[in-house]
Amino acid sequence: MRHLPRFLPLPIFLASFLVASGARAADVVHGQQLFLQNCALCHAGNADSHPAAGQGPALGGIVGRASAARTDFGYSKALQTAHLTWTPDALDQFLSGPTAMVPGTNMVAVVANAGDRADLIAFLGTLKPTPDSRYMVSVTHARTPGDWQNDAPGQTHRIDLAGLPAPFATRSAGNAPRTVDQPAGARLSVPVGFKISLLLSNLSGPRLLRTAPNGDIFIAETREGRIRVLRLGAGTSAPVENTVFADHLDGPFGLAFYPAGPKPQWIYIGNLNSVVRIPYASGDLHATAAPETVVQQLAETTGGHSTRDVAFSLDGTRLFISVGSGSNVAETMGRKSPDEVRDWDRSHLAGSTWGNELQRADILTTDPEGKAPLTVYAAGIRNAVGLAIQPSTGLLWCSTNERDGLGDDLVPDYITHVEEKGYYGWPWYYLGNHEDPRRMNERPDLAGKAIVPDVPVQSHSASLQMTFYPAQVTGKTAFPAAYRGDIFAALHGSWNRTGRTGSKVIRVHLQDGKATGEYEDFVTGFVVDDGHVWGRPVGVTVAGDGALLITDDANGTLWRVAYTGK
Ligand code: HEC
Repeated sequence: MRHLPRFLPLPIFLASFLVASGARAADVVHGQQLFLQNCALCHAGNADSHPAAGQGPALGGIVGRASAARTDFGYSKALQTAHLTWTPDALDQFLSGPTAMVPGTNMVAVVANAGDRADLIAFLGTLKPTPDSRYMVSVTHARTPGDWQNDAPGQTHRIDLAGLPAPFATRSAGNAPRTVDQPAGARLSVPVGFKISLLLSNLSGPRLLRTAPNGDIFIAETREGRIRVLRLGAGTSAPVENTVFADHLDGPFGLAFYPAGPKPQWIYIGNLNSVVRIPYASGDLHATAAPETVVQQLAETTGGHSTRDVAFSLDGTRLFISVGSGSNVAETMGRKSPDEVRDWDRSHLAGSTWGNELQRADILTTDPEGKAPLTVYAAGIRNAVGLAIQPSTGLLWCSTNERDGLGDDLVPDYITHVEEKGYYGWPWYYLGNHEDPRRMNERPDLAGKAIVPDVPVQSHSASLQMTFYPAQVTGKTAFPAAYRGDIFAALHGSWNRTGRTGSKVIRVHLQDGKATGEYEDFVTGFVVDDGHVWGRPVGVTVAGDGALLITDDANGTLWRVAYTGK
């Protein structure tokens, strides 16, 4: 039991206790393991686990409860209007395919195996109801620099690593935002000289998007398992084409065209646990063939973080795939003795993770055909969501979601170039040589070895897709020269912070291709108050005419920022 987190709700005697459920006896202890590995990243199980609400609602008392019943969580409209009762049968159906049962739900974790579902549901049945936290509505706090009220286009931010607070300096907040419709009078702000306009609404949870060489825009609608393609008219208000390019994919997120240049032959897609490619000729609005598998399996586990981005090296010889961790801080990974650690590091990249975190929390690489063995390119990167190759240097960069539970201003997310064979700290260290108090003394051998990332981003911002603004853009709405080569990144917004942060798009200014450690707000205004937002940016891409396009998966919208000079 010592490998499991302190908040374990089950007494040890349950280790041999089986609950009868259906035809076979359900194994509660196995259900608990499954919960810790696949659900605990987002769901608190019971009262003495950390916050009442996380990325998902607390599940204490879920069996028999009405759906979307907690007042301390911002459910999707889909789940709010589903009016279900979570009987064991309903949970079984939900967990076998949440979006099939409740189209539009934000809950995307699938438990494919019926026996696993039975065990998990039996475990859920042991969780006692917990009172709704009034935290979100009642909290008042002194404003801090990272709070959304301080956001404004052009406002610069620099996270001083020497000035990071101590772990647990503030309590771990459970403050997931509720999504509301755009309030009357709410407007987005962009820097002077730019104009932002709504291009499209009614998308279904649009996530990452990428611009094809011919200017068509490909958007991953992850929870629907599909890729949409848009063709924008000149000068552009509404798309002139809007079709589903491919569907029946498994949690698609990352997209990349290959080979580089005006005539790609394939579009690569990062699924939840595989990479596939579909033949693609410029101008295709529908897939002309079924997906072909490039990488059969990324990792042995799929719980927890679920976005896989894909990118190719400039010379076209390498495929990079980002694979986030299954857990917050490797709670269930299992411990190794110093000897075992030494053996592990001899045969693997030093600092890479094992057990159910094997080939997780890292960036993997193979060749574009998927023939070269899949190896860890860089380790200790908790959840690299966005990947991008810097056009001027060919370096791989990523944006990363760092860990939760240590307080309001820990641990900063980051955007950084990624060193081959680099170790970035997770789960033992963060932002260089800061040891995680929950993994204390486990890896003295790694002290001082974690690379300090280039641009720390306000903790809990949830940094998602990132893109480089190309050096050569000819469109009439192209951004001024000062923006060329800079990074734009979407910050989805916080749940583990008292004062809301994120839900904006930032620009990371680079000098001669190098980060200065600073970033500035570019699009702000989605936050209504500490509890509510009307948009959560996920994807950023530069359209053929130089405008920046942004997806928001809370209200299903697509935005366009054009330079007008006015
Ligand atoms: C990446 C985060 C994430 C993971 C991992 C996750 N969930 Fe969820 N879950 C959510 C979100 C977000 C919602 C709310 C969905 C909505 O509002 O549409 C949710 C909703 C639910 C609900 C409905 C709750 C209610 O109050 O109606 C159940 C049941 C549930 N999840 C069970 C699970 C189980 C069991 C697992 C593990 C197999 C799991 N979830 C894994 C994010 C997650």
